[in-house]
Amino acid sequence: MIDRVRGMRDILPEEASLWQALEGEIKRTFELYGYREIRPPLVELAELFSRTVGEATDIVHKEMYTFSDKKGQILALRPEATASVVRAAIGAGGGGDLQKFYYLGPMFRYEKPQAGRSRQFHQYGVEALGSLDPALDAEVIDLGWYLMERVGLGGTEILRLNSIGCAEDRARYRQALLSYFTPHAEELCPACRRRLGENPMRILDCREPKCQPVIQGAPRSVDYLCDACRDHFEAVQGYLRDLGLAYELDHTLVRGLDYYTRTVFELCSGELGAQDALLGGGRYDDLAELLGGAPTPGVGFAGGMERLVLARGHRSDEEAPELECFVVPVTEVAEVRRRAIQLLRTLRRAGLAADMDYMGRSLRKRLRVAGRRARYALILGPEELAQGGLRVRDLGPGVEKVVDLAQFQGDPKAFLA
Ligand code: HAM
Repeated sequence: MIDRVRGMRDILPEEASLWQALEGEIKRTFELYGYREIRPPLVELAELFSRTVGEATDIVHKEMYTFSDKKGQILALRPEATASVVRAAIGAGGGGDLQKFYYLGPMFRYEKPQAGRSRQFHQYGVEALGSLDPALDAEVIDLGWYLMERVGLGGTEILRLNSIGCAEDRARYRQALLSYFTPHAEELCPACRRRLGENPMRILDCREPKCQPVIQGAPRSVDYLCDACRDHFEAVQGYLRDLGLAYELDHTLVRGLDYYTRTVFELCSGELGAQDALLGGGRYDDLAELLGGAPTPGVGFAGGMERLVLARGHRSDEEAPELECFVVPVTEVAEVRRRAIQLLRTLRRAGLAADMDYMGRSLRKRLRVAGRRARYALILGPEELAQGGLRVRDLGPGVEKVVDLAQFQGDPKAFLA
């Protein structure tokens, strides 16, 4: 028996129907805000991520699935999609105007699997490229917020917000963090001691209890913003207030990816345990240039499908039967079976999901399967057929009527109101 790979899950049909419903809702919401779908490949040059997400981040340093192809190129299974979207947008031209993209799909990170964290996981996300307008930051946050309302998580979300400024601000902030953390190095976990040498900002999102007291006393990025970045952050907060979105300023929120500039945010849920971020994002005004493109500011977010499903749970009122009709030939008589097969063909071509038993079950068991899977049982017996009739049983209330088979086949929907 070959088992599945640790951290990679099958989404079985029972769960997949909920995923389909959520994905439909997500796409409709993204389209309401003017985003259009983009489908970047799952495999990219590893350098795309090491240059943007950052060599010193956990995602690139520890978690990326990399391999070389037959030509010796180092490739990676994408751990996220923002870098791919920006790469694609640069490649396609279209600069100068605002471009709004959304995506849904699998991402890969070699993390320790736990509730809400897997190695193949699925993100939905948006990226708006080409504008520095703080109203766009607020729009993106509003979109994440509204999406949670539409999928039934309204009222449970907590919006965490911070600004980490532009590259110059971050250089000054980095210096301040270095001066602060260096004398505390002994109090930090081994990973944070490494981060101190590489990128001290990464220490701020460490979850180790040991590091928390030191982190709490660290300098705050908002105190190192230049005038333009401070104005931008204030404008974002003003728009959020105008939109009625309550936020908490979180000075330790720096996000685990290096490409961010200015606004960073997370929408978290009290329903989730330790992995409480439903979605996270922010601005990345220098990312396009890191990839060799023309300066193109951007802002976006991504959220995890698994966490959405977890936070929301299955709801019994959503469990509609998968089929409209289950065709039940009463006997195995060849003529009856032939009629059943023709009836199935008619139903499907009329746009009605329909099926029958192929397992040689008894009549009683066929009706039981029908009751589980469909709204109507269409029962074909030799007596009804002899008179050109079909028994239609509404499986909800269990009421039955006999209709004319030829008329039914002419317009089945008319009989199933
Ligand atoms: P991220 O915070 O790394 O950001 O991931 C975004 C979301 O993906 C998380 O909030 C979480 O819901 C989900 N997620 C991340 N890792 C896992 C995992 N191992 N298992 C399950 N769910 C996970 C990004 O990826 C950025 N590209 C977001 C962004 C878009 N920023 C700007 N534009």
